[in-house]
Amino acid sequence: MGRLQDKVIIITGAGSGMGAVATRLFAAEGAQVVATDIQEEAVTALCAELSQGGLQATAMKLDVTSESQWQEVAGNIMQLHGRIDVLVNNAGLPGAPESWETVTLESFNKVVNLNLNSQFLGIKTVSPHMAAGSSIVNLSSIAGLVALPEVHPAYSPSKGANRLLTKSAAASLAEQGIRVNSIHPGLISTPQTEFMNTESAAADYFLGHIPMKRLGRPEEVANVMLFLASDDSSYMTGSELIVDGGYTAK
Ligand SMILES: NC(=O)c1ccc[n+]([C@@H]2O[C@H](COP(=O)([O-])OP(=O)(O)OC[C@H]3O[C@@H](n4cnc5c(N)ncnc54)[C@H](O)[C@@H]3O)[C@@H](O)[C@H]2O)c1
Repeated sequence: MGRLQDKVIIITGAGSGMGAVATRLFAAEGAQVVATDIQEEAVTALCAELSQGGLQATAMKLDVTSESQWQEVAGNIMQLHGRIDVLVNNAGLPGAPESWETVTLESFNKVVNLNLNSQFLGIKTVSPHMAAGSSIVNLSSIAGLVALPEVHPAYSPSKGANRLLTKSAAASLAEQGIRVNSIHPGLISTPQTEFMNTESAAADYFLGHIPMKRLGRPEEVANVMLFLASDDSSYMTGSELIVDGGYTAK
C-alpha cells in the first residue's frame, strides 16, 4: 500500500520542476494523479510514461489563471474519478527580474494573478468537490516569509499572500474536514534557479546565505508535498513548512 493509495490528486504546473517530480512520487505512492499544466505536451508525455510503467496518471491542460478552465478540469475529474481528495497548487513563477524604477502595474498584476489569484481559483473551484479528510497544499516560497533581493517586486507580496490565503482557507474549511497547508521552498534546483549555475553576483549572494551551502533538490520538496497530501499530516492545517537549507533560520 502506498502512502496515497487510490487518492485522487490534482496538481498544477506539473510539466516541469517540482510539479513533475511530485507527480512521479504521488503516482509511485499509489495515487490517481491528474497532472495539469499550461504546457499540455509536457504533462501528456509525463503521464504516458507513468501509465506505461503501470501507474495511474492522466494529463489535462489547465491555465491556472482561467476560472473557466478550472471549472472544466474539475468537472472532467469528477466525471472520471467521482471525487477529488488532494489539490496541490504548485504552478507559479517569479516573473522576470524587475526594478522598482521600471516595474509597471501591468507586470505587477500579472505576477499576482499567476501566483495568488490562481490558488484562490483552485481552492474555490475544487473544495466543493472534496469530502472530509481531503487536503490542499499551496506552494509559497521563502519569499513569502522574507524579502529577497533581485526578484520581481510582486514576487514576495504574492508569495506572502499565498501564506495567508492558506491560513484563511484552513480556518474556514476545517469545518468540512478539509486541511490546507503551505510549503515555503528556498532555492531549489529547477528551471527557475538556472541563474545559480552561472557565475553571478546573485548566485554568490544566495549561496552565501544558505547554511547548508547547496540548492535543494526537487525531491526534497516533493517529499514534503507527499507528507501534507497524505493522512500522515492529519492534525495539521494552516501550517507552513519551510524547506530551505536554513536560509531563513538566521
Ligand atoms: N525553484 C525554486 O527555487 C522555488 C523556490 C520557492 C518557491 N518556488 C515555487 O514552487 C512552485 C514550482 O516551482 P518550480 O521551480 O518547480 O517551477 P518550474 O518553473 O520548473 O515549473 C513551473 C510550471 O508551471 C507552469 N505554468 C506556468 N504558468 C502557468 C499557468 N498560467 N497555468 C498553469 N501552469 C503554468 C509551467 O508551464 C511549468 O511547467 C512555484 O509556485 C514556485 O514559485 C520555487
